[in-house]
Amino acid sequence: MTSSQKQKTVENVAQLDAAYDARYEIYTPDADSALRHLYGDQENFPEIAARMMRVVRDAYLQRPEALKELDLRRSQRPDWFQQPDRIGYTAYVDRFAGTLKGVEQKIGYLKNLGVSYLHLLPLLKMRPNENDGGFAVSSYSEVDPALGSMNDLSNLAERLRENDVSLCIDFVLNHTADNHDWAMRARTGAQHYKDFYYVYQDRSLPDQYEQSLGEVFADTAPGNFTFIAEQDEWVWTTFNPYQWDLNYSNPVVFEEMLKAILFLANKGVDVFRLDAAPYLWKRLGTDCLNQPEVFSIIRALRALTAIAAPGILLKAEAIVPSYKLVQYLGAGEHAGKECQLAYNTTLMTMIWSALAEGNAARLASVLKSIPPLSPGAAWLNYVRCHDDIGWGVLFEEKAGYSEAEWRDHANFARAFYAGDVDGAYADGENYQNHGTAGTTASLCGLERAMKQGDSEAIRLATMRILLLYTVVFSYGGIPLISMGDELGQFNDHDYAAGNRYDGDGRWLHRGAMDWQKAELRRGGGNEVRIFSEIRKLAEIRANTPQLIQSAAEPGLCGDGRVLTLHHHNAHGEIFVCVNFSSAPAHVTIPEAHCWRDQFTGDRVTKPQVELGAYDRLWLTPIDQALDDKAN
Ligand code: GLC
Repeated sequence: MTSSQKQKTVENVAQLDAAYDARYEIYTPDADSALRHLYGDQENFPEIAARMMRVVRDAYLQRPEALKELDLRRSQRPDWFQQPDRIGYTAYVDRFAGTLKGVEQKIGYLKNLGVSYLHLLPLLKMRPNENDGGFAVSSYSEVDPALGSMNDLSNLAERLRENDVSLCIDFVLNHTADNHDWAMRARTGAQHYKDFYYVYQDRSLPDQYEQSLGEVFADTAPGNFTFIAEQDEWVWTTFNPYQWDLNYSNPVVFEEMLKAILFLANKGVDVFRLDAAPYLWKRLGTDCLNQPEVFSIIRALRALTAIAAPGILLKAEAIVPSYKLVQYLGAGEHAGKECQLAYNTTLMTMIWSALAEGNAARLASVLKSIPPLSPGAAWLNYVRCHDDIGWGVLFEEKAGYSEAEWRDHANFARAFYAGDVDGAYADGENYQNHGTAGTTASLCGLERAMKQGDSEAIRLATMRILLLYTVVFSYGGIPLISMGDELGQFNDHDYAAGNRYDGDGRWLHRGAMDWQKAELRRGGGNEVRIFSEIRKLAEIRANTPQLIQSAAEPGLCGDGRVLTLHHHNAHGEIFVCVNFSSAPAHVTIPEAHCWRDQFTGDRVTKPQVELGAYDRLWLTPIDQALDDKAN
């Protein structure tokens, strides 16, 4: 290194360190107040807080310089993830490409589709055999050996960064696997580790808690506590018996999980999906969901990670009604202090509901009732994910419907997607007592139509897939493509014979990527239509700055069959229309402008347009005079 290069490096390090010091000043009060809410009543609180700050300092010292530079760039551009070209894709590593090295080989495919945000489902070392699709983590510092190594993860993150693709992974923070080192030590009776979990000597407290708790996997894992025979004790297990809930009232748990997230951030992970966030705090007499301390845990995590690794994002996975969901994105005085992203569960569930009804009225009412997001926060909008479509989340939606009406509607939607109605097209399966499993294509009728070789049914099913994706691409926030949807991939009917099957019906829609189908996208089949239309959506969206920080104004046309989404911001406006029904519908176009439809390139000059079955429009204003000249 020449002396001038050395000098440059010294200056660079000084600049990065100065930025760290500034962040330390800015975020310490937020961290302190959140930690105080959680642990302020403990005698040694100052020592607890000091320990957390030491974790942060150590993580910063370990952070690779390239990531510190990225942090700086992102701090200067905090809306980097809200740019319209940020388009997501989600997949299981093994299902998509075998291993992490395999994923590296597929970056070209993802870029070709327009993807710039990749969520890889659980990839950390998982419990052998049953592990809830990897959501039972045995080690937060190791990659599952079947998928690769920690080195492979940081190499993949680097390759993705070079391609401007951000990497998201799951941070399963509510529970560990029962074979995590902490759980193994707890089993031997070590009190320090028993205190990491909720362990009870008899059923008296568990019975009291059960009175107000719900059940997540009511069919396969009833109850919220598991008897551990070798300990002769009960352990809190909200999900499966092998997923032990962590006890965040113990500050050592928070400290260890802080170390874990920062360790992974230093490997190059950009976004952390906070799995099962609502369950992080327990309170007797409640459903132990969304407790105020949950938000303090998130605020403490946000402030502390913002000091050591400000380039990362926190994404809430909270399957709760929308008025509670928005709280995860920081509301009021907490704006900008919680997660930057959250799954838009309400939108996801409601688009399937509207499709089943062939009417968007209920969808529009629910969307209108969603409280606005605080600045700096955004939705993660998705059609399907690895979980079921859980209808129960709608029961508390505040949109002018009673709980009884929602329950009836949920029963209808479940029957509809299980194909149990006249004229059914969907090939889903009921999941547990609350949800629907199945891939987008199978739920939209493509599987059935292809089997029947019915070209009109194939066309309609394809239109349904594209309609759903049009909504999530135009709603505002990051749109997410679920692996295989871009090719119209069907249910995996052999899922029970699959190597990861653990008795869970969600494997129906977690089949391996059909790379043969992917090859067909270059040919002339239906795959080409779906792939190229989704890629086109990505292109259109990438050129729609009107969506940055813009809240969609939902409306209805065509007797409620058409949902309209109107966006305005400093970049202008867009008007999107989607016909949820198989009957044609009339749409009234705002007359203020002359518009162009981005799908067809056609000018729309009339105030009334007819939309065919499941058809859509993505309108942007044009200057008619200039356009005339150009043509
Ligand atoms: C989340 C995951 C789900 C998992 C559960 C327990 O809801 O999405 O797949 O079963 O958490 O970790």
